[in-house]
Amino acid sequence: MAGTARRPLLVLLLVAGAAAVAESKQYTPEDRFLLNCGSTTDGLDADGRKWIADSNDNSWLVDSGKSSLMMAADKMDTGLPSTIPYMTARVFTMESVYNFTVNPRDRHWVRLHFYPSSYNGLPADTFHFSVTTSTGVTLLRNFSVFTYSKALSQAYVVKEFSLPPNPAGFLTVAFTPVAVEGNNETYAFVNGVEVISMPELFADPATMVGFADQTVDVAGSVLETMYRFNVGGQYIPPPNDTGLTRHWYDDTPYVLGPAQGVTYKAGPHFQLKYPTELAEYAAPPEVYLGTRSMGSDPRMNQNYNLTWVMPVDGNFTYIARLHFCELLLTRPNQRAFDIYVNNKTAQSDADVIGMTSEKGIPMYKDYAVHVADEPGDDAMWVALHPSVALRPQFYDAILNGLEIFKLNDTGGNLAAPDPEPSSMLARAELGARGLPHPGAHRNMTTVMGGTAGGAAAIGLVVAICVAWYQDKKTKDPTGAVAGGSHTSGWLPLYHSYTSGKSSGHLAANLAGMCRHFSFAEIKVATRNFSESLVIGVGGFGKVYRGVVDGDTKVAIKRSNPSSEQGVHEFQTEVEMLSKLRHRHLVSLIGFCEDAGEMILVYDYMEHGTLREHLYMGGKPPLSWRHRLDICIGAARGLHYLHTGAKYTIIHRDVKTTNILVDGDWVAKVSDFGLSKSGPTTVNQTHVSTMVKGSFGYLDPEYFRRQQLTDKSDVYSFGVVLFEVLMARPALDPALPREQVSLADYAALCQRNGTLPDVVDPAIKDQIAPECLKKFADTAEKCIGEQGIERPSMGDVLWNLEFAMQLQDTFEGGSSCGRRVATAAGGGEGSGKGAPVSVTLDPSNSNGSAASVTTLETSSTTRAHETAVIVEEEEDDEVANSAAFSQLVRPAGR
Ligand SMILES: *[C@@H]1O[C@H](CO)[C@@H](O)[C@H](O)[C@H]1NC(C)=O
Ligand SMILES: *[C@@H]1O[C@H](CO)[C@@H](O)[C@H](O)[C@H]1NC(C)=O
Ligand SMILES: *[C@@H]1O[C@H](CO)[C@@H](O)[C@H](O)[C@H]1NC(C)=O
Ligand SMILES: *[C@@H]1O[C@H](CO)[C@@H](O)[C@H](O)[C@H]1NC(C)=O
Ligand SMILES: *[C@@H]1O[C@H](CO)[C@@H](O)[C@H](O)[C@H]1NC(C)=O
Ligand SMILES: *[C@@H]1O[C@H](CO)[C@@H](O)[C@H](O)[C@H]1NC(C)=O
Ligand SMILES: *[C@@H]1O[C@H](CO)[C@@H](O)[C@H](O)[C@H]1NC(C)=O
Ligand SMILES: *[C@@H]1O[C@H](CO)[C@@H](O)[C@H](O)[C@H]1NC(C)=O
Ligand SMILES: *[C@@H]1O[C@H](CO)[C@@H](O)[C@H](O)[C@H]1NC(C)=O
Repeated sequence: MAGTARRPLLVLLLVAGAAAVAESKQYTPEDRFLLNCGSTTDGLDADGRKWIADSNDNSWLVDSGKSSLMMAADKMDTGLPSTIPYMTARVFTMESVYNFTVNPRDRHWVRLHFYPSSYNGLPADTFHFSVTTSTGVTLLRNFSVFTYSKALSQAYVVKEFSLPPNPAGFLTVAFTPVAVEGNNETYAFVNGVEVISMPELFADPATMVGFADQTVDVAGSVLETMYRFNVGGQYIPPPNDTGLTRHWYDDTPYVLGPAQGVTYKAGPHFQLKYPTELAEYAAPPEVYLGTRSMGSDPRMNQNYNLTWVMPVDGNFTYIARLHFCELLLTRPNQRAFDIYVNNKTAQSDADVIGMTSEKGIPMYKDYAVHVADEPGDDAMWVALHPSVALRPQFYDAILNGLEIFKLNDTGGNLAAPDPEPSSMLARAELGARGLPHPGAHRNMTTVMGGTAGGAAAIGLVVAICVAWYQDKKTKDPTGAVAGGSHTSGWLPLYHSYTSGKSSGHLAANLAGMCRHFSFAEIKVATRNFSESLVIGVGGFGKVYRGVVDGDTKVAIKRSNPSSEQGVHEFQTEVEMLSKLRHRHLVSLIGFCEDAGEMILVYDYMEHGTLREHLYMGGKPPLSWRHRLDICIGAARGLHYLHTGAKYTIIHRDVKTTNILVDGDWVAKVSDFGLSKSGPTTVNQTHVSTMVKGSFGYLDPEYFRRQQLTDKSDVYSFGVVLFEVLMARPALDPALPREQVSLADYAALCQRNGTLPDVVDPAIKDQIAPECLKKFADTAEKCIGEQGIERPSMGDVLWNLEFAMQLQDTFEGGSSCGRRVATAAGGGEGSGKGAPVSVTLDPSNSNGSAASVTTLETSSTTRAHETAVIVEEEEDDEVANSAAFSQLVRPAGR
């Protein structure tokens, strides 16, 4: 889903490569319903799967839709993988039942898709409901998608259940609104319902860990998928599954550090030998062809447990399914190990060869455990340790895949209370660190319990993004400004650091860092928070335009007192922002914390976001030179974040709405809401974290591996460059499929050599062909599939400057008579990281070769300057635009 349109490619590859992977059997479901609820049209989702219309005359809705309404979401979140099935919903006013005729022999997947939006004006938090089946199992109880997704920072929610066969030959899913305190007007809704038959993967009873004589009836139970990992491997999307359309995630964030073991992947010619047909569906070959093991040092391996920790809901029984396949060893007792589940011995002396008799034979084992409802204990722990007693040849342990399923309790219930929204911050932290310290903070583990349902479960890591801030925006009680796209996230909203310091007085901590405003001053500046001065509504309050000191324009962000952003986060944000000062970063001027207020004062950005000057802003199009200059400025800001501060800071949400333009057309990077400190030690190359960011801009590698590097920003910036060139959104679902994702489409055009044809017509005639080539090549490298292939931000900056030189040369040669002058600016660190060698395209003229020399000198001398354009001779077309009149003002500042 990283870039919606990557999927069709995948699907094509799958078909093309079918011969190569023929050994993996594909399951063909007998029953297959994918309902695009609330919609009258069929359509494809991001995985290319077809969803069918759920219109009122369909045969599935028991009352033919009499007690339900078809509604459309009021806005599209960029975090959605596709419009289908999320942009339409069926809203139920009273209990309503979907009834599917299914074969009586098979188990069935039931996947429920929810998008927490407002629908036809119904706010997202009016939906509270329960979901039950005809067999009397409660799948969800008093469930609020809004609260749940907010707590987990997900843009959408998918719940995956597996229902046992029903001999009666039908399967029902009933939605029932539940009244909540203070709100009698509640509804139920659903965006998509999948009912698909599946092979009987749960026929065998599982033994209770620690109670050898007790087994758990899995075959007769409803299961909910909590986690599914391709251990030691990367994310596997549904089309690459064995026909069961499951998501398999990277396990890295859940391995208890720092002992993460080592991963191994079998070569391309390794042959798997499936013992039975059923086993072929249990997990795709890719899962079995890669392992995580402990490492090669036998002494070290004896001293630690290779451990995975996964938060779950308390007071339920869980099945841990461990997938194994020995890929290297051939004889018994070469590698034998003990398996612990929740600190109890699930199996001692496990020996994969001993169990399978040969290498390359996949197998899995189920272990059942009851997780108590005690704060701190509500997590699944799976640990492996070498069997020292057996004296195996290698003191080591392996695992290939891991799944965690929740079983319905004896009362037929699977539902747990919604997680606490306030746990979100801690959750983000947990996600970032991957893990809690065993027994570290009680508070932390409590939080973990609250998040059960697992972001990593069934495809949801994907969904994490800034989305819910936007939700809050539209449901701001005053409703004064509903989140238009120009308001979205243009100021730092929130960030997931939690300051080590206890909440103290900012004034003392920050004296000298930035200015302290009194509440009275702020009131004057905003004319007592006049609604007419609101320029945006952020995640926790409104943003006002204001004037201080007589004539200094500022943007004032006032936290809503009831917001969840506590003093801690406010303080950390101030601390971080006040330390980051750069000409190309939006800067914090001051703050106010009088009278219980939390107010931040920023530089006012006269010209708003870069995007509104490209498209959808109703503004005259910017000239090419102008765009290039803004790109160079933004690159400089990002380069500073990456290399200029004490630690690498990864922005994580680079996009055209987070690049602002001030009154002098200087580009400023804003919104450090999601920023993270990068790797701090030499050996660490990435930060493991839950995926956040905006779709369309999201680094596919980050997305797959959940490992954040500065190259993730480079990817997003590459998308920005193409957006600037083509003047279209990063994701535009309205376009033909191959064009939906800008990154994919631009890459395609580059390969086909058709890029010049798709350049924004407004600037097409202004671009020097060599400049276009350099610019496009740079942007293309930025969106390279692998981080390692992408240039550093310093390289990008250098190449953009080079592109500007090529443009100069071109224009200098023509009769336009323009030139570029430089003016002093506060840019730091821009010289760092400039590449030493540059390969000149043979096609380049002598003229550009000359400009390289110029650039080399200028790039060093200009290390602390910023290019500012001075136009000497007016170009009619540009001169007429308001943009130009701003530009021609001499750059003295
Ligand atoms: C999915 O399968 C295709 C074809 O076998 C392969 O090219 C692609 O890399 C796979 N994708 C992932 C993420 O494993
Ligand atoms: C669902 O349909 C079946 C027939 O296919 C019927 O026997 C059953 O009563 C229906 N269930 C509900 C709840 O309407
Ligand atoms: C909810 O309904 C009850 C009676 O059905 C009524 O007494 C109460 O005032 C209602 N509450 C709200 C908030 O409408
Ligand atoms: C591994 O885990 C088990 C069960 O929690 C524990 O008894 C044992 O001490 C652990 N071993 C090490 C080396 O941490
Ligand atoms: C735990 O679940 C059982 C049903 O399996 C239920 O009866 C009991 O009340 C639950 N306990 C708590 C503390 O929720
Ligand atoms: C789940 O519910 C079914 C009845 O719907 C029951 O037979 C089964 O034992 C329950 N599973 C567990 C683990 O209690
Ligand atoms: C397992 O043991 C660790 C400490 O060794 C403890 O922190 C953790 O809570 C235990 N897990 C369970 C589920 O009891
Ligand atoms: C952490 O938990 C302790 C009790 O275990 C509580 O007193 C304290 O307030 C909690 N801290 C936070 C930040 O929630
Ligand atoms: C980096 O790794 C090397 C060997 O892999 C080790 O000797 C060194 O101590 C590590 N440095 C840090 C800072 O962890």
